[in-house]
Amino acid sequence: MGLGVRSAPFTYVAHALALAAAVMVLVWCIQFRGGLAFEDTNKNLIFNLHPVLMLIGYIILGSEAIMIYRVLPTWNHDTTKLIHLILHAIALVLGSFGIYFAFKFHNESGIANLYSLHSWLGIGTISLYGIQWVFGFVAFFFPGATPNVRKSVLPWHILFGLFVYILALATAELGFLEKLTFLQSSGLDKYGAEAFLVNFTALVVVLFGASVVVAAIAPARLEEQQDYTPIPEN
Ligand code: HEM
Ligand code: HEM
Repeated sequence: MGLGVRSAPFTYVAHALALAAAVMVLVWCIQFRGGLAFEDTNKNLIFNLHPVLMLIGYIILGSEAIMIYRVLPTWNHDTTKLIHLILHAIALVLGSFGIYFAFKFHNESGIANLYSLHSWLGIGTISLYGIQWVFGFVAFFFPGATPNVRKSVLPWHILFGLFVYILALATAELGFLEKLTFLQSSGLDKYGAEAFLVNFTALVVVLFGASVVVAAIAPARLEEQQDYTPIPEN
C-alpha cells in the first residue's frame, strides 16, 4: 500500500517552513545573542555560528537535496541526481564547519568537549551522513553499480537516508533545548520573547522535518488505482 497523497503540497509547505526557520534562527543569533563572528574576544559570537550553520547549512540544504526528485519531477534524472549529490556535499561541509565552531567555542572558553547526549548524537549523525554520501556516490554515481545492484540498494539508500535525516532533526531539537536551558538557568526570562522565539523555531523545525519526510515518501503523481474493489456490503 503506497501513500495516497501527492508529494507536491508537502514540498510547498516544507519550503515555507524552511524559510521561516532560517529567518528565526538568524533573528535569534543576531538580534538576541549579539551576532556572528569567526574570531572574537566574546566567544558567544563564535558559538552563534553553530546553530546557524547546523540549521541553514546542514538541515535545510540536506532537506532540499532529499526533496529535489519531488520538486523537479520532470527534469532529467541524471541532472536531479547531480543536484542531489552536490547539495548533500555542501550540507556535509557546512555541517562540519558548524561542529568545528562548537568545538572552537568550547576550547577557547575552557569548556569540556563531548559531554552531552546532543554532542554524541551530533557526532553520530554527521559521521553516518558522510558514510551515506560515500555509499550513494559509489553505488549511483561513480563508478556506479550494475543496474540490478542499484535497484536492490536503492530502498536501503532511502531508508538509511531518512533515518540519518531524522537523527539530524532530533539532534537539532536537543541543541535548541540545551542552549535555552543553559540560558534560562543563567537568568533568561522563562516566558520572555527570546524563550518563545527559540521554542517556536524548534517547533517549526519539527513540522518542517515532518513535511520533508512525507514529501520524500509520497509519490510525485497518483496513479489510477487499477486494483480497487469495493468491500462488499453484508
Ligand atoms: C543536526 C544539527 C546539529 C549537530 C550535528 C550538532 C552537533 C554538535 C556537537 C558535535 C557538539 C559538541 C561540541 C563539543 O563538544 O565541543 C555540539 C555542541 C553544542 N550544540 Fe550542537 N549540533 C546541532 C545543532 C544544534 C542546534 C540547532 C543548537 C541550538 C542552539 C545546538 C546547540 C549546541 C550547544 C548549546 C552545544 C554546546 C553544549 C554541548 O556540547 O552539548 N546544536 N553540537
Ligand atoms: C548523506 C547523503 C545522502 C542522503 C541523506 C540521501 C538521501 C536520499 C533519500 C531520502 C532519497 C529518497 C528521495 C525520494 O524518495 O524522493 C534518495 C534518493 C536517491 N539518492 Fe540519495 N542521499 C544521499 C546521497 C546520495 C549520493 C551521493 C548519491 C549519488 C548520486 C545519491 C543518489 C540517489 C539516487 C539515485 C536516489 C533515487 C532517486 C529516485 O527516486 O529515482 N544519494 N537519497
